[in-house]
Amino acid sequence: MKRWLSYIYPITKKIPSAYNGMLEITWYNGKKHLNTKNANYSYGSLQKILKTGLQRIDLNQCGQVLILGMGGGSVIETLQQDFNYQNCITALDIDPVIIDIAKDEFNISNTPNLTIICADALKFMHQNQQLFDLIIVDLFVDTNIPDSFFGVPFWKNIVKAVSKKGSILFNASLYKTEDKKLAKIIAFLHKHGFQTEKIEKVNNTNTLLIAKATR
Ligand SMILES: C[S@@+](CC[C@H](N)C(=O)[O-])C[C@H]1O[C@@H](n2cnc3c(N)ncnc32)[C@H](O)[C@@H]1O
Repeated sequence: MKRWLSYIYPITKKIPSAYNGMLEITWYNGKKHLNTKNANYSYGSLQKILKTGLQRIDLNQCGQVLILGMGGGSVIETLQQDFNYQNCITALDIDPVIIDIAKDEFNISNTPNLTIICADALKFMHQNQQLFDLIIVDLFVDTNIPDSFFGVPFWKNIVKAVSKKGSILFNASLYKTEDKKLAKIIAFLHKHGFQTEKIEKVNNTNTLLIAKATR
C-alpha cells in the first residue's frame, strides 16, 4: 500500500540517532530510501553514485569486499543483485540505529556471506589484519566526511589492507570540493603503487576516487 501511495506523495518515518541526527525512511516513487536531514544515505542517488564507481572495477577478481559505512546497505544490494557478486562482504557502521534500520527496513542482516560489524572505521582499520580485494569507503555524517578519514594514518591502514591486485572505491565528497585533502590522498596512493581515477560530479554531486593496486 505504502509503495503505491508513494507514487502520489512521499511517506516518511523518522528515527532519531545520536550519531547521525534525525534519520528519515522515506517511500518515494515506489522505493524506500534512507536519508538524513540534508543527504541521501542509501537506496537513492547514493546507490546510483556507488554503482557508477563499481562499474569501473573488475568484481570477478574479488573474493573479499570491505564496506566502511554500511548505512542502509544499498551498495550490498547493488553488489549482489546488479553485479551478481556472491562472495564475502564485511560491512561496518558506527551507528547501531543504522544497523537496526538496515535489518528492519531493508532486510540487510548477517548471512554466511555477509558479516556486519558495529564499530568505528578508524579504530577498526587500526586493528585490522585481514586483506580485502575491494574496500569501499563511504563514511559520512550527514553531508560531511569526518576529517580523520582524509588523514594519512587512516589511509596507511587502508593501503595495508588491500590485496596485491585489489581496489579502493572512495566516495570522496558530496556537494563541497575537498580538492586539497583529496590531492594528498592521491599522492599517497601513487607513492604506494596505486593507479587512481578521480570522477567528479557523479550524478551532478559527488566526487569518486577509484584506486587500483599495481604492486
Ligand atoms: C552514506 S552512508 C553509507 C551508505 C552505504 N554505503 C550504502 O550503500 O547504503 C554513511 C555511513 O557512514 C557511517 N559512519 C560515519 N562515521 C563513521 C565511523 N567513524 N565509523 C563507521 N561508520 C561511520 C554513518 O553512520 C552512515 O551510516
